[in-house]
Amino acid sequence: MDYLLEMSRIIDGAVKGDRAKVLAYVEQLARKLREVGETAAANRLVKTSQGNKASEVSTAETMASPRLPVDSESRLALADEEWVSIGDVVIILDRSSQMKVEEFIRYIKAADQLLASQVGIAPSMLIYGPPGVGKTELARYIAAELKLPLVTGRSDSLISSFLGSTAKNLRTLFEHAKSRPCVLFLDELDSVAKLRDDQHELGELKRVVVSLLQNIDALNNQIVLLAATNHHHLLDPAVWRRFSYKLEIGLPDIEAREHLFKLYLNGYKANAKDIKDFALLSEQTTGADIRQICESAIRAAVLEGRDTVMPLRVFREIIACRLGSKADFTKDDPRNIESVRNLNPRVLTLKRLAALFQSSEPTISRRLSPGEKPDGKRKKIANQSRNSAGSRPKARSSRRRTS
Ligand SMILES: Nc1ncnc2c1ncn2[C@@H]1O[C@H](COP(=O)(O)OP(=O)(O)OP(=O)(O)O)[C@@H](O)[C@H]1O
Ligand SMILES: [Mg+2]
Repeated sequence: MDYLLEMSRIIDGAVKGDRAKVLAYVEQLARKLREVGETAAANRLVKTSQGNKASEVSTAETMASPRLPVDSESRLALADEEWVSIGDVVIILDRSSQMKVEEFIRYIKAADQLLASQVGIAPSMLIYGPPGVGKTELARYIAAELKLPLVTGRSDSLISSFLGSTAKNLRTLFEHAKSRPCVLFLDELDSVAKLRDDQHELGELKRVVVSLLQNIDALNNQIVLLAATNHHHLLDPAVWRRFSYKLEIGLPDIEAREHLFKLYLNGYKANAKDIKDFALLSEQTTGADIRQICESAIRAAVLEGRDTVMPLRVFREIIACRLGSKADFTKDDPRNIESVRNLNPRVLTLKRLAALFQSSEPTISRRLSPGEKPDGKRKKIANQSRNSAGSRPKARSSRRRTS
């Protein structure tokens, strides 16, 4: 009974002359057989389905996709399709999100076992959070882990300017996805699933939302449905409810940022202390920001013929990312230096500020607070005054008066 689903789908595909479907379910059946040690049987099945081709069959070849669906008006493809290999994608999440993702993957892998125990699974996850935190990357990661092709709906071509065509496009996309096991990913879901209170396109939006709901409901559990949005509050509540898992990805915490710097600096390592400081200073940035920061620093290193990045360059990139156009290292006026230092005074010491502004520590110190002395000296003087206050109060006060 373990293989009944695959066998019935293979027969269905054969009866309907749907070669792609046959091949896809044969591959799925073969994978299951291999998992229980029936490698010879699995290979025979694959070979038979390939018309006894003697050559070795790769998974990607076996599951060659049917032609991508297109918008009937513009002829633009409604979807992209990608095979992602494990190792090609690394996603760094906080611990609780990571655990949720792992659980989701584990449940899908154990779908048959769960179904046999009369507890169905609804393999769908809605991923939401600000731009650049890794939502699309996570969809790729899940597809890679599940060893399924990732079919991503292209919102630009799905949304047609022709009345009624968007709903039709959605149907075409879902039909395409249903032809074989895959991960169907609706990226930027908010663009097709806006709240019904948009006055401009009310009728059309209603049709689109209804169509989306119907298509989701008609999915079989061989299709893993993922969706991502930056604006989850714009989603129709009925669409929101359709997803059994909802995962919010926020800005990376300090630990995740440290991992991201290590990941994206790659071979161009910085030392551990500097990486910790990069992570401290890069509060409020996203994974996409950190990737860009690292790439920019690596580009500079390459052009300078170095094999490590200059920490100062990374600090500068992080500051530029956080302050945007306000970051100006050419102007060492007090307000400018102050706004940079306020990003993280612990990381941005006088020494670092001096290097960033190509100035000297005493100058930076004077700019920041005209009466203050640079870090080290200030401490020394403070200690001296404490000591002298205890031992020679009179002498100190008299010296003060004379100066
Ligand atoms: N958490 C993360 N772990 C690893 N890489 C990340 C992470 N977040 C972002 N990145 C990097 O930034 C790039 C952009 O991220 P991605 O496109 O997945 O973000 P997104 O949340 O989908 O953004 P948007 O809402 O703009 O579509 C990715 O290709 C990846 O290299
Ligand atoms: Mg995205």
